[in-house]
Amino acid sequence: MARTALVTGGSRGIGAAISHALKDAGYTVAATYAGNDEAAAKFTEETGIKTYKWNVADYDECTAGIAAVEADLGPIDVLVNNAGITRDAPFHKMTKDQWDQVIGTNLTGVFNMTHPIWPGMRERKFGRVIIISSINGQKGQFAQVNYAASKAGDLGIVKSLAQEGARFGITANAICPGYIATDMVMAVPEKVRESIIAQIPTGRLGEPEEIARCVVFLASDDAGFINGSTISANGGQFFV
Ligand SMILES: NC(=O)c1ccc[n+]([C@@H]2O[C@H](COP(=O)([O-])OP(=O)(O)OC[C@H]3O[C@@H](n4cnc5c(N)ncnc54)[C@H](OP(=O)(O)O)[C@@H]3O)[C@@H](O)[C@H]2O)c1
Repeated sequence: MARTALVTGGSRGIGAAISHALKDAGYTVAATYAGNDEAAAKFTEETGIKTYKWNVADYDECTAGIAAVEADLGPIDVLVNNAGITRDAPFHKMTKDQWDQVIGTNLTGVFNMTHPIWPGMRERKFGRVIIISSINGQKGQFAQVNYAASKAGDLGIVKSLAQEGARFGITANAICPGYIATDMVMAVPEKVRESIIAQIPTGRLGEPEEIARCVVFLASDDAGFINGSTISANGGQFFV
């Protein structure tokens, strides 16, 4: 029977490419989103992948949403924590609200999504937890104290879950994308984007599909001995 995968933020950008790639690899896929109904409806129409709306920053919404997905598609074998936001500002101008929003979605959201799914993975003796972190969680970034902290925290989650899940057949790994051509990056002014590309030795932005292929590998049985790892996919921009 096909394994079931849930991709948060799976209807747009990197998440949409991940949902597509997992479907192509034979998984039954559910994609979640926060509020962009139009994009989600278009995505479902084009792909046949079911979409579900809830806020990953809300624990109760996650519990209810996960129960709905599992009732529709069966137990979740692969969880891809991809949903993420930026609220950039230099630290002296960053508001508490900007801090809370980013930590709530990018870090607490990973707890909220993984915690209700984890016991079932333990019982079934199989699971894959994959977190889309960021190059900026590895190296820090001007005006992203909130984002860099959330994404560095995600790496701590993965390393700890890897130790707890290993004897239950569960792996937890992270991917740290560099700059990828999605709405998030295309929203920055063109001049800034050009300066970003100038810092990437490969000379271009990454494509969402390049991250999706890493996810498909980490989700597979072939990756069973890879646990607690971080894959950097950044065009050579930063080495850990
Ligand atoms: N793009 C890059 O260069 C880059 C680089 C490194 C890491 N990343 C990370 O990769 C992930 C995907 O980025 P992206 O560029 O593809 O982003 P994106 O195009 O802005 O899409 C974000 C997705 O996450 C969903 N989302 C946002 N907040 C949510 C919440 N509170 N609850 C549920 N869903 C939520 C959005 O739903 P709606 O459609 O409803 O808004 C959307 O589906 C993020 O974690 C990001 O930090 C991106």
